[in-house]
Amino acid sequence: MVVVITGAARGIGAATARLLAGRGDRVAIADIDGDMAVTIADELGEHCQGYKLDVSDRLAFIDFVDQVETNLGPIDVMINNAGIAMASPQVTDQEIEVIEKSIDVNLKGVIWGTLVAVEKMRPRGHGAVINVASLAGVIGVPGLAVYSASKFGVVGFTEGIRAEQEDSGISFTVVMPGPVETDMMVGTRSAPLVRLVKPEVLAAAIVGAIETGKPRVAVPRSTGAYVRLMSILPPKFAIRMNRLMGLDRVSTEIDPAARSEYVERIKRTIS
Ligand SMILES: NC(=O)c1ccc[n+]([C@@H]2O[C@H](COP(=O)([O-])OP(=O)(O)OC[C@H]3O[C@@H](n4cnc5c(N)ncnc54)[C@H](O)[C@@H]3O)[C@@H](O)[C@H]2O)c1
Repeated sequence: MVVVITGAARGIGAATARLLAGRGDRVAIADIDGDMAVTIADELGEHCQGYKLDVSDRLAFIDFVDQVETNLGPIDVMINNAGIAMASPQVTDQEIEVIEKSIDVNLKGVIWGTLVAVEKMRPRGHGAVINVASLAGVIGVPGLAVYSASKFGVVGFTEGIRAEQEDSGISFTVVMPGPVETDMMVGTRSAPLVRLVKPEVLAAAIVGAIETGKPRVAVPRSTGAYVRLMSILPPKFAIRMNRLMGLDRVSTEIDPAARSEYVERIKRTIS
């Protein structure tokens, strides 16, 4: 299979690319960090290629997929994984450029990737689109209001297009991870209920979704169940519950020194 995966120079994306390459899939690894994408692809073997791509650039996304089809063949799977999480105790203090980039990458990037994939896959009558959202796309998370908004958007968009394309032969999966042990979580505060999952666990769930075409995948399932319950409870009660569990402090009481490298890396991508 030919698989495109964005944001795959590190974290969940790199772990997924590794798993796919190990199965013999031809993998196009796209990342804003093009050098790192090429390094990972070289490590994984001749059937993998690394590309520089900013997913928020719609036209660049279209050119990139054309290039992949020329080099590796028609795409079977599109994994829209690239994302950024800029935490801020109060969203009212967040820089406008950071807010814009978060929506551009996390939501618009997923929309552009899905649209170009559907355009290629629909005439062939098969394919799989996997959109990586978050459990922060099911309940609003303090410290991550804009991130949550973008991930709610990814969930809504994926649900909508799945219904529109029901007879297309394309499966649409929304993956909703809880906290995962990647750079994105560095410097956040731990809480009793927050169990960091390894990126390899997510990789296995994503690859499983390619096979099953399952519409929604929450990892870990226990956190998924908790979050779904909170989403249907009266907001005042859910806020109190989350406070009791310490979940409200995970992204509001961050360690700026520990997180500075991640923040600087993201800020460099904002022009
Ligand atoms: N780590 C978590 O706790 C967690 C939880 C829920 C959801 N997620 C989601 O999982 C996905 C992967 O996150 P991760 O934890 O592996 O993070 P990560 O920071 O380790 O990796 C994200 C990758 O995306 C790339 N990227 C950033 N902006 C980009 C852009 N504009 N265009 C292309 N690539 C870009 C980065 O260079 C990086 O290689 C994200 O969508 C994230 O929101 C992560």
